[in-house]
This record gives sequence, C-alpha cells and structure tokens, in this order.
Amino acid sequence: MSLKFAYWVPNVSGGLVISKIHQKTGWSFDDNARYAQIAEEVGFEFALLQTRFIASYGAENQLEAITLASALATVTKKINLIAAVLPGLWHPGTVAKMLSTIDQISHGRAAINVVSGWFKGEFHGYGEPWLDHDERYRRSEEFITVMRELWQQEETNFRGNFYRINGAPLKPKPISVPPVFQGGNSSAARQMASRVSDWYFMNGNTLDGFKTQIDEVKGLAAANNRTLQFGANAFVIIRDTEEEARQVLRDIIASSDPEAVEGFRSQVQFAGKASPEREGMWANSDYQDLVQYNDGFKTGLIGTPEGVADRIIELKRIGVDLILTGFLHYDEDIRAFGEKVIPLVRQKEAELAELPVS
Ligand SMILES: Cc1cc2nc3c(=O)[nH]c(=O)nc-3n(C[C@H](O)[C@H](O)[C@H](O)COP(=O)(O)O)c2cc1C
Repeated sequence: MSLKFAYWVPNVSGGLVISKIHQKTGWSFDDNARYAQIAEEVGFEFALLQTRFIASYGAENQLEAITLASALATVTKKINLIAAVLPGLWHPGTVAKMLSTIDQISHGRAAINVVSGWFKGEFHGYGEPWLDHDERYRRSEEFITVMRELWQQEETNFRGNFYRINGAPLKPKPISVPPVFQGGNSSAARQMASRVSDWYFMNGNTLDGFKTQIDEVKGLAAANNRTLQFGANAFVIIRDTEEEARQVLRDIIASSDPEAVEGFRSQVQFAGKASPEREGMWANSDYQDLVQYNDGFKTGLIGTPEGVADRIIELKRIGVDLILTGFLHYDEDIRAFGEKVIPLVRQKEAELAELPVS
C-alpha cells in the first residue's frame, strides 16, 4: 500500500519549534484554511489538529481542534481531518456526536486522535482530576470503546470504571466510522493500541526506535486478532544541499528559547517517565530533541528532496504507513514538500513494487 502523508495543523501559535527563529507560519483560521487547501492539492491525505488548553512550549494562543476541523471541512474537499481530544476534559458521548457531525459536513473525512495527556497543569487549571499514568490509558480505552459503540450501534449500553451509558442513541451516524489514531508510546499506550486503535502515532525517533515499537505493537495486536497502522512524526527541512538544510537546523537550535524548552521538559515528566517502566514519550529526549516538541528532528528528514525521499522509503521498509510532517515556514514548505518530495517517494515506491520478492 502506498505511504500516506499528514501534516501538523499549526492551530497553536509559535510554530512547531520552541525557537525564536523567524517563521513564516500563521495559526489563524484563514492561514490554516490556506494550508489545508494547499496540502490536499499537493498530495497530503491527512491534517492533524493538536489539542492544547494552556500555553506550553511557547504556544500562547490555541484554537480548539474539533471546532477548527469542522471549519476546515467546509473549505476543503479531499483531506481527512484528525482532531485530537483529551479524555477527562471531554465526555466520549459528546465527542462521538461532534465527530459524526463533522463526518456529515465533510462527507466522510472525520478522524480522531485520542491523546491520554502529559500536561498536569491543564487538568488542574480546568478543574479536572489528574489520574496516574496507566490509569489515564485505562480511561482512554473506555473512551474509544464508547465512541465506537455509539457510532455503530442502534443503542449503546456501557458499564465501565469511568463511563456509564444507558441506552443512548446517536443519530445521524457518521458516513463511515471515523478512524481512531492515538498518541503515546509507553507500554500502556502500546497495549491500548493493540486492543482498540486503528493507528499508532510515534514521536520522532531513529529507525531502530521506530522498528522496536512497530514490531512489538504488531505482535500484541496479532495476539488480539487485530491489525493496525503506524504513523511516524518528522520535522522536515528540505534545501538544495544537505549542508544548507543542516544549517537551518543549527539556526533553529541556536535561536531556541531555553526557558520555554526547560519549562516543557519539566511538564513532560508526567509522560513516559511517569509510567511504571519509565519508558515512552520524551523519556530519553535531550535539549535539542525537545526544541521540536515531538522529537521530530530525530527522524532525520533533513536534507535534499532526494535524500529525504530515500529516508522516507527506509521508514516504509520497517513498517511505517504514514509520515506526519511539521515545517518551519508553512507558507512555503507544505507546497515544496508536496511538489518536490511526494512525487519522488511515489516513484521510489513504484520501483520497490517492481523488485522481485526474495
Ligand atoms: C503524534 C502525536 C500527537 C500528539 N498530540 C497531542 C496533543 O495534541 N495534545 C496532547 O496533550 N498530547 C498529545 N500527544 C501526547 C499524548 O498525550 C501521550 O498520550 C502522552 O504524551 C503520554 O505519552 P506516553 O504514553 O509515552 O507516556 C501526542 C502524541 C503523539 C505521538
């Protein structure tokens, strides 16, 4: 199957890096309408909207993901819109209803990213209890189960530890059941993905780091008679030469905002590091990794279009199904990626398909 491409919608201010470097990236609805239209024109299949309630990593203003996805649905025709939600701050019945509404508006393009949370300050600020790491995943699993039942069944009855649903209908149903993505890379996240998610999103990583997760989650899913797909995050810098691209990365790091990066580091101690295994997102990230707040530099999509396309093919070979991209200058970079890299990847995928199976 051909690789899918997604991009991070910059629905928060400050761009995708914690840096004071000049960025041509807006966060308003008008900017995002333009980016989504360019993205679908040049071959992206998915747009991912993040959920954020309180400024972190310099994201001073944040547009809410579901509301913005709904608006983007009306100005686009093809792209699938993945809105992130945080169980605990939303009820699954409300979210199921909102997503089926977006699916109607968009003629079947609604998707959801269920994120289990790392930012204690948001829960405290908005007056909701903050659960232990693995407890948050138990709640997310119930959340996903409730949404799916509401989307698929005439009437839903559910008795869980977190949610009770009593003969609830949901009409209209979505046109097609929205795919469920999930963020989170800890052991609890991997197990939840194997049981209930359609897609497992990974923070930026090395080839080995991605492969270990893909192999483990595939194995766990097989034991549950399931299959799922894998998305890998990457911050993309393409320039005419490898050296120019590397220089942009050095400039981003040189202009990084140490106070904001250190603030972010102290907030993310409640992610992977707080799990019983002390593994998962940001558990081993260093200062430079954190400047792209989803470890996107680690994936290595930095270089010439040819070099970046080759690296993407390596990711495909180890089992990645989707590349989630972020950029410095959205005003230029989405189009450049779509025009210079995606066609090369398609060409290389066709060559791969022609190779004899050994
Ligand atoms: C691609 C991706 C997107 C994510 N989006 C968000 C988001 O929008 N908001 C958020 O609070 N967390 C987001 N997360 C983080 C998740 O909340 C995750 O569950 C949390 O960091 C705990 O990770 P852990 O399971 O590795 O401990 C995202 C993670 C990934 C990989």
